[in-house]
Amino acid sequence: MPTQMPMLSDSARGFRPLPLITRAPRREPQVPVLGRAPRVHLWHIGCQMNDADREELAAQIADIGCVPETALDDSDIAVLITCTVRANAEQKVFGKFRELIPWKRARPGRAIALTGCMAVEHGEALLGRLPELDYVFDVREPDGFLAKLQALHAPNLDGPVIVPASDRLSAYVSVMGGCNEMCTYCIVPFVRGRELSRPLPEVVEHVERLVAQGVREVTLLGQNVNSYHDQERRARLPELLTAVDAVPGLWRLRFLTSHPRNAVPELFAAMRDLPTVCEQFHLPVQAGDNDLLRRMRRLYTVDEYRAKIEAAVDAVGPRLALSTDIIVGFCGETESEFAGTESLMRELRFDTVHLAAYSVRPGTAAARREDDVPLSEKKARLNHLLAMQREIAAARNALYVGSTVELLVDGIAEDGKPYGRTRENKVAWLPKGAAEPGELHTAQVVEANAWQLQVQPVDKAA
Ligand code: SAH
Ligand code: SF4
Ligand code: F3S
Repeated sequence: MPTQMPMLSDSARGFRPLPLITRAPRREPQVPVLGRAPRVHLWHIGCQMNDADREELAAQIADIGCVPETALDDSDIAVLITCTVRANAEQKVFGKFRELIPWKRARPGRAIALTGCMAVEHGEALLGRLPELDYVFDVREPDGFLAKLQALHAPNLDGPVIVPASDRLSAYVSVMGGCNEMCTYCIVPFVRGRELSRPLPEVVEHVERLVAQGVREVTLLGQNVNSYHDQERRARLPELLTAVDAVPGLWRLRFLTSHPRNAVPELFAAMRDLPTVCEQFHLPVQAGDNDLLRRMRRLYTVDEYRAKIEAAVDAVGPRLALSTDIIVGFCGETESEFAGTESLMRELRFDTVHLAAYSVRPGTAAARREDDVPLSEKKARLNHLLAMQREIAAARNALYVGSTVELLVDGIAEDGKPYGRTRENKVAWLPKGAAEPGELHTAQVVEANAWQLQVQPVDKAA
């Protein structure tokens, strides 16, 4: 087995951002003077970090006097915020890109930019591969792109654009970037760089700002969020949760994604003690066999993982909703290793499992091993676990019938039914006319299936 650690890419090692990359000047888009603020369409795929990056980029675009988040047909620039975690994420980006080509050709001056994890991974090579692509940039360092946008498309902008406040109730807040783990299959550390935590007061101030805009539920984000560390203030995730919990007007607090290695008793105590922290815990296990975990470089055993889950449930109570990520068909995964994963899923009975077939990522340590589980076998294993998990989720949700849940109403569907999420992060539906978005209800569960709950209001909590 190769034991050598993979090297970090240049941009990951030193956080050296990718500069704005454009085509050679003669191939730059011929831009007519718009006579108005340029409009920018944003599209994203991938994890919640990209949701947060999209929001940040939209704010930066508005700050320089351009209009973000416009409909594609009304837009001058389309920005793709991409993901590279599996080959199929990249294929979806290429698919989206192909859709944009007729859009770009329909009006002179339109341009396409690509950012996010694929930009860091492939850089300039993308311009060669995609002749209609105009700009590639690192979303962590967008100044070059923003300057270009401003100068090329409207040299005389009037200043920051006021974008109407959104009426959203839930928001993501990145509390740290990067990942220092080196799971052998994973490209994220290469494209997101080393861990870097935001200072605690900055996160609190961000949450206060969101709450002032009407946000009631916040999810703190990091690829390895429980290794959060504000060294100056000696604050780890429990201290951060405590500080954010104290923000007046915040109703609910969640955090993603925890690594089992850093899931410590202090975290479980904070989950138990802080009123806003929801009864939900996402703890990716990836596999249910010690050899497989070692080859993945996850740095824990199945027993250690099980103990973490038990400790979390002990602290928070049996209502704690558990979710995980699992990869099937990793290099050399035998029938018996796969059976270990299956039996762990049966034993721990997660509420939600994000299942994925192993996809080789160039440059990772695992890419040097043979990807020897045939695709048909990966699919068969995936489907087997999907079907099993559907049964488990249905049984877990059935336990809710007759009990009460707290529901934050997010919206009203086309058929008039209000819907929202419970503290355990389950989707729940109310009868028509029973509630308005933004309300917090106590409701009784009357029906459940694998994916959602049907509830009746008992009273309005807020
Ligand atoms: N930091 C998080 C999330 C990382 S990416 C964590 O540690 O869990 C999200 C998920 O994608 C991972 O949990 C893993 O299950 C999956 N994933 C990552 N690389 C993959 C690959 N090469 N093939 C298939 N799935 C992968
Ligand atoms: Fe990838 Fe998560 Fe492992 Fe980091 S902890 S390398 S993001 S799977
Ligand atoms: Fe994808 Fe980048 Fe997230 S690779 S999963 S968007 S960190």
